[in-house]
Amino acid sequence: METILIPGTDLRVSRFAFGTADCGTKIPSDQALRVFEIYRNAGGNFVDTAHCYSAWVPGGLGVSERWVAEAVRRFGRQGLAIATKGGHCAFDGYPRPDAFLAPEVVERDLTESLERLGMDRVDLYYLHRDDPRVPVDEIVDACNRLADSGRVRHLGASNWSAERLLAANRCAGSKGLRPFAILQNHWSLLQPSWTSLDAPGDVRYVLDEERQRLAEAGIPVAAWAPVRGVAELERGASGSYDTERNRRRLEAARRVATEVGATTAQVALAYLLSQRPTAIPILGTGNEAHLREALATESLRLTAEQLEALENA
Ligand SMILES: NC(=O)c1ccc[n+]([C@@H]2O[C@H](COP(=O)([O-])OP(=O)(O)OC[C@H]3O[C@@H](n4cnc5c(N)ncnc54)[C@H](OP(=O)(O)O)[C@@H]3O)[C@@H](O)[C@H]2O)c1
Repeated sequence: METILIPGTDLRVSRFAFGTADCGTKIPSDQALRVFEIYRNAGGNFVDTAHCYSAWVPGGLGVSERWVAEAVRRFGRQGLAIATKGGHCAFDGYPRPDAFLAPEVVERDLTESLERLGMDRVDLYYLHRDDPRVPVDEIVDACNRLADSGRVRHLGASNWSAERLLAANRCAGSKGLRPFAILQNHWSLLQPSWTSLDAPGDVRYVLDEERQRLAEAGIPVAAWAPVRGVAELERGASGSYDTERNRRRLEAARRVATEVGATTAQVALAYLLSQRPTAIPILGTGNEAHLREALATESLRLTAEQLEALENA
């Protein structure tokens, strides 16, 4: 698998990341390990977990990070880029203070994550959500204290706007501190219909108007839920992907899929792989055939006309 050097770091990660939110819960542990073995054998090295996974399942809090610990025991730590996240807002099953990005909260998250992972240090630590009530310079200082402690090699932000992330990085630059090297937001061919995007703790999608600024700043995007929307719409599920525009895009993806002899999920991934800023899809499948299908997209090149047809559908 091709690898990508995250600009400004020594972190080289594979073209696809391995999402573990459901590993050990919705995806039984052994099944997830079988899928992970295929990923490792294909050259994948970028593992994504989080402190709050999978607290939405009764008894699930911490299961994903403990599953990662098990996967590392089985397959070795060598060459892996382990990313986890902390600083998530409260949700059902995950009580948090209102000030969910307070330094002591994130510090405790990191300590617990490292315990569950059985590691002294992670390669990448993301703040899982943003809280626009907190000035970026406070966040930059707190994150740099975590990195200075030696427990975090590089910093990332998840569910942040490009504007806030670039403001934080300007602030870090002016203080000679570490910037956020990577963004992890939702990004896929199909955009969900969320309306509110700026409240504390909201999820975020990579907006069209943000792409150029991120590309110019050399910030890659670890794209979460790269296939979920296609999978949901394909099986006729109603929900946040069930919009007019997405139905047009899915139709366009089906036409392109027929032209190139691929599946619509592969077309959606090939679309992401062709984007600027660099998109690193985080795959969340528990199905071996689906993982192989996803990894095969690396060699699928869409023409400019096909990309335009998808974009403008
Ligand atoms: N930072 C954040 O806020 C955030 C939020 C959400 C997720 N994440 C990260 O992103 C990772 C991936 O998220 P995700 O699970 O939504 O990703 P995803 O891979 O886009 O979606 C997974 C879903 O799509 C289905 N699927 C995958 N490939 C398919 C195919 N070829 N055909 C049909 N269905 C297919 C899967 O079913 P099968 O299992 O049957 O394949 C599963 O239901 C998570 O594990 C987590 O690490 C981060």
